[in-house]
Amino acid sequence: MKKEIIRLLEKKNDFISGEDISNALGVSRAAVWKHIKALKEEGYEIESFSRKGYKLIQSPDVLTQNEISKFLETSIIAQEIIHFDTIASTNTKAKEMADKGALQGTMIMSEEQLGGRGRLGREWTSPKHKGIWMSIILRPHVDPSEISKVTQVAAAAVVKAGQQMGYDFYVKWPNDIIMNGKKICGILTEMSAELNQINYVVIGIGVNVNLEIDDFPDDLREKASSIKIETGEQVNRQELCAKILNHFETLYDSFMKDKQGLEAIDICR
Ligand code: BTN
Repeated sequence: MKKEIIRLLEKKNDFISGEDISNALGVSRAAVWKHIKALKEEGYEIESFSRKGYKLIQSPDVLTQNEISKFLETSIIAQEIIHFDTIASTNTKAKEMADKGALQGTMIMSEEQLGGRGRLGREWTSPKHKGIWMSIILRPHVDPSEISKVTQVAAAAVVKAGQQMGYDFYVKWPNDIIMNGKKICGILTEMSAELNQINYVVIGIGVNVNLEIDDFPDDLREKASSIKIETGEQVNRQELCAKILNHFETLYDSFMKDKQGLEAIDICR
């Protein structure tokens, strides 16, 4: 219901009365008021006057289902987004949820990670509202030995999304995404499998979007960067995130068909 109210407010781009909202959505005016109150608590700036109704002034810079779905064109990936303000690691949470049966495509997103994990046991700096820290649960019917191809699919999706937004991204083996010679994205793939069958795969993607140089630990400043540092501009995290997911679904479908990931391999070359 909150999503529908936001869409109505966005469409109108002016005051809309509580009565018009309640008629359009078939709920009581008291229910509309309750949802507006909840939206304000989530950071939506909404003006309200008793005779004029409600007007959306500004949406928050958060990676919730409500905000990402504006740009999303997928049918499986991220249809379910579990959003956190703070979490230890989205990969750890995704594995817990996959163990309990979460469906393919479920995505765990957090505005901040306090125990973000990188490859080879490294830490992954994940400050609040500055990056895209997300994990996607997949259940591919492929041999466990093919798992690195799913990682390539994710890397290719990030590159395509970045290029679509005008950024010069490329993949450095095995799956770092580089801009101007510096790492701006990493991928951590984890899996639960039997001898010849995958139970689930968790693809963790960390994109340094709007981090400042001070956000990085001293020893990383030579090697790592963010899109904002490289371009000098604040980047729309919601749009970039949705674009990554849109490309991910297309490339993942193509991988499931040819079982080779040829399209992704081509982009990662
Ligand atoms: C790397 O070392 O390059 C991989 C970094 C992966 C970071 C992402 S952020 C979202 C997800 N949750 C984690 O704890 N790690 C991955």
